[in-house]
Amino acid sequence: MRDKKVIRQAAEIIKRGGIVAFPTETVYGLGADAFNPFAVARIFEVKGRPYFDPLIVHVANHTDLDRLVIEIPSDAKKLMERFWPGPLTVVLLKKENVPDIVTAGLQTVAIRMPKHSMTLSLIELAGSPIVGPSANPFGYLSPTTAKHVQDQLGDKIDFILDGGPCEVGVESTILSFFEKRPLLLRPGGVPLEEIESIIGKVEVRPIEEEKPLAPGMLPRHYAPRTPIVLDWSKKNLDSYRDKKIGLLVFQEPKNFLKFHQIEVLSKKGDFREAAANLFSAIRRLDALNLDLILAEAVPEVGLGRAIMDRLRRASNVISTTNDSISTFRGMGKKAYTTEDLIRDRKCERNIEDEEDRG
Ligand code: TXA
Ligand code: MG
Repeated sequence: MRDKKVIRQAAEIIKRGGIVAFPTETVYGLGADAFNPFAVARIFEVKGRPYFDPLIVHVANHTDLDRLVIEIPSDAKKLMERFWPGPLTVVLLKKENVPDIVTAGLQTVAIRMPKHSMTLSLIELAGSPIVGPSANPFGYLSPTTAKHVQDQLGDKIDFILDGGPCEVGVESTILSFFEKRPLLLRPGGVPLEEIESIIGKVEVRPIEEEKPLAPGMLPRHYAPRTPIVLDWSKKNLDSYRDKKIGLLVFQEPKNFLKFHQIEVLSKKGDFREAAANLFSAIRRLDALNLDLILAEAVPEVGLGRAIMDRLRRASNVISTTNDSISTFRGMGKKAYTTEDLIRDRKCERNIEDEEDRG
């Protein structure tokens, strides 16, 4: 009963052109009426997201879908039947009336039907599909609880619909049907193997070939403030002995260094549990004012592929030595090293301390 009232309230806000954070099975989204360009523009503003990065449109039924796309290829249909509602986004040719601000001027639109009863009701009551980027400031980790949203964007948006913690924990798998063959744009909540078991081989675009046109796919993205080092070996960690280090591991805690904190993603070694814990665990580490987070690689099968994709983007430190690396922060500077990132972090902290005092 109470839920119904709250959802109705949220739907009214969307109808009036407002912004509502909504729960999904993957991560929390930031919702606005997809057919109201002014409301959509405010989403970009609130997130600090560049306008050239298109948004995913969330639908509750096939009538919504028909308002957005011209035609649906048969392979896309098969996948929708199997995985919707669920963590799969398909990129299809859009209808002309879909506002350009939603698709960043592209001919295509990304669409998904999320698996969360509150949000499906929200879309139905709002009477319109809703855009929904992840509800985080641009470049930062996606939120998997209402509190994450409240902490970072609470004062900038009109309403937060609290639907509990997200079950899947990593964003949807994005598949484009615009190319000759289906192309995986982002690994996510539906494992590639499951998709291929239905439609056969799918092309996968390697990270290094990505044009930095769609920042959701920028090499450094989904990033905490603390530098994350992913590819490390015990022997080259000596230089960090005096640093405050957190460890993010898949299954088993390790003690080869004196870690300030250790986060275990899944004691059972279960990918689903690990994915569901991933962003929260990184956020907890990020809150500890560490110098560095060491992250352990997970096997790249099933959901492990999405986990590794997010870890790579959150870190993008190729080596713990002095190799040059390009990072998202590197927009101002071409190449960063782990040392640079640590120095950056110290600098940020000093600025924060000054702000606290002032
Ligand atoms: O699980 C999810 O997908 C979450 C929840 C809230 O639904 N949403 C999400 O949205 O992750 P966002 O905006 O953080 O990421 C959407 C990604 C971006 O990388 C964007 O570049 C890409 O989808 N995208 C959107 N429209 C596209 C299009 N027409 N062609 C190619 N990529 C597109
Ligand atoms: Mg995002």
